[in-house]
Amino acid sequence: MKMRDFMASAPGKVILLGEHAVVYNRPAIAVPVNAVEATSEVSYREGGVFVKALDFAKEYDITKRPLKEGDDGFALQETVYHTYEYLQKRPEDVEIRVTSTIPVAAGMGSGAAIAVSMIRAIAGYLKKELLPEEVNYLAYKTEIIHHGTPSGIDNTVITYNKPVYFISEPRKMERLDIAKPFMLVIGDTGIRSNTKEVVAMVRENRKKNYSKYKQIWNEIADIVNEARDAIINGDIEHIGPLMNRNHELLKQIHVSCDELDKLVDAALDAGAIGAKLSGAGRGGDMIALVNEGTKEDVANALRRAGAKNVIITEVKP
Ligand code: MEV
Repeated sequence: MKMRDFMASAPGKVILLGEHAVVYNRPAIAVPVNAVEATSEVSYREGGVFVKALDFAKEYDITKRPLKEGDDGFALQETVYHTYEYLQKRPEDVEIRVTSTIPVAAGMGSGAAIAVSMIRAIAGYLKKELLPEEVNYLAYKTEIIHHGTPSGIDNTVITYNKPVYFISEPRKMERLDIAKPFMLVIGDTGIRSNTKEVVAMVRENRKKNYSKYKQIWNEIADIVNEARDAIINGDIEHIGPLMNRNHELLKQIHVSCDELDKLVDAALDAGAIGAKLSGAGRGGDMIALVNEGTKEDVANALRRAGAKNVIITEVKP
């Protein structure tokens, strides 16, 4: 039967505070970035199951689930099959077109956003309702393919499209009650950050110096909890120094790099209230907390310091 086309989108995200420590069950705060998004559109196509990655001009024929772990397109294929299995349907006669304005491997959750948009678009095409918890569960399965041992924070903030305070185990997800909206400038080093590799490197280093890492995770947890209170109380100025300290701690676990440090310093020199790397690090993005008066100066300073892409975003309830 020919069905009606269905389209769904999902935003990008940044981690405000707590990356890496969140993998070890400490809390983290993440916020959606609606200036960028992933979009999937599902439509009828006779004779198989196809995914088109429009930005890369690629088409995958996944009719017989041919792709294996490590193959290009494997995560896309598995997202399709997991979603159909969950909905107790067999994929057939369908094409899923995927496109995204979220920078890839930049710490902005592009993989999770693509998965969320695909899952919602497939469910909508099949006229099935999925609860956010169900979308989140399915997107987490894709995150495992991308990242190995993800905390689940990316798929969660993207599925709910709200700022979240998140703990992986035991699972706790709290929507953050933002008393006063605040602004972030996101600067992209242009260096691709491989979350899976960086998380694995941290895991190896932690084995060699367990007590140092434990101390760092605990300090990051304190920072995140203090920031959560500041956000709830609308005390935005207080978040700046917490971000700076978080960046120092991330440097101590070797997940920063010269390019990230340069952008962080440039943002602070230009008047940012606080700045840090965001996401897995060793490339990817940094974020700076700014106000109306400093946002353009900080954005320009980041461009001058070599940022390949700059996004200004407001964090609101
Ligand atoms: C990636 O956006 C954040 C990390 O903490 C990894 C994870 O939470 O799975 C580095």
